[in-house]
Amino acid sequence: MSNTGHSSTYLLGSSDAEYERLVRQAELFEPFTRRLFQNAGIGLGQRVLDIGCGVGDVSMLVARLVGPIGVVVGVDNDANIIAKAKARAAEAGLPNVSFMESEVGRIAGSEPFDAIVGRLILQFAPNSGPVVSSLVKQLRPGGVLAIQEAYWDPFLNLTAHLPLRSRCASLIHQAFERSGANIDMELVLYRTFQLAGLPAPNMSIEIPVGADPDFARWVHDLFCSLLPRLEQHHLAYDDVGNLDTLQQRLEDEASAAKTFGATIGLVGAWSRKR
Ligand SMILES: C[S@@+](CC[C@H](N)C(=O)[O-])C[C@H]1O[C@@H](n2cnc3c(N)ncnc32)[C@H](O)[C@@H]1O
Repeated sequence: MSNTGHSSTYLLGSSDAEYERLVRQAELFEPFTRRLFQNAGIGLGQRVLDIGCGVGDVSMLVARLVGPIGVVVGVDNDANIIAKAKARAAEAGLPNVSFMESEVGRIAGSEPFDAIVGRLILQFAPNSGPVVSSLVKQLRPGGVLAIQEAYWDPFLNLTAHLPLRSRCASLIHQAFERSGANIDMELVLYRTFQLAGLPAPNMSIEIPVGADPDFARWVHDLFCSLLPRLEQHHLAYDDVGNLDTLQQRLEDEASAAKTFGATIGLVGAWSRKR
């Protein structure tokens, strides 16, 4: 798919600011994703596919888990993001990771994988059933599918006592929903894995929380990446105030209330092909 086609349909777009947001988000989510993959048995020497790899953070995390004798292939349908991911992996000195441009449901067949992983990708598939079925075909018997997606309730509920943050959370959630993203992935994953012939998946839900400014920044970053969608879906956001001061006001609101913030929860599902 061309990059133009990608940016017009993918709700978070393909700006440099969005790519930088993904790197910062990856730092917040890294321990949670690592734990899911370790629980799923992803480790030394494996050949792993990372779907919707973005700027490459999950692929690089997995590259460290599988070590130099393992192999990681990252795929994404945004040509520009693939170029960024390649440059970052080279800079990180990880020769065992490669990247290719592909639609997630149309990945060219190759030698089967020991594991297929993905973070925050299946929520964007209009129909995740056929995508998961196509992925299962690319796993060897005994191979594992391990996916981590968004669980929205904690973000909405754990910001309810903070008016500004709660308003941003609500607008973010509405922008995802109106753009067609799947907002109940915790249920979709459990069902879709089984419909694709996998055993009922092992599930976990973890919620990144904290009082440091990274959490306010995460809300601000995501809100800014979604501005074109807020406009597109006529979601008025004037009451959020000046965007130049939004991040600082989100931080100040939490520190005045002596409270912490939450991101989306991360729902993990993993299952092994019989
Ligand atoms: C929220 S980002 C997550 C990136 C990465 N997995 C991470 O957690 O840092 C979602 C990624 O999925 C990609 N994507 C969305 N729809 C896709 C599709 N149909 N096929 C392939 N990639 C897709 C986007 O280009 C974007 O890079």
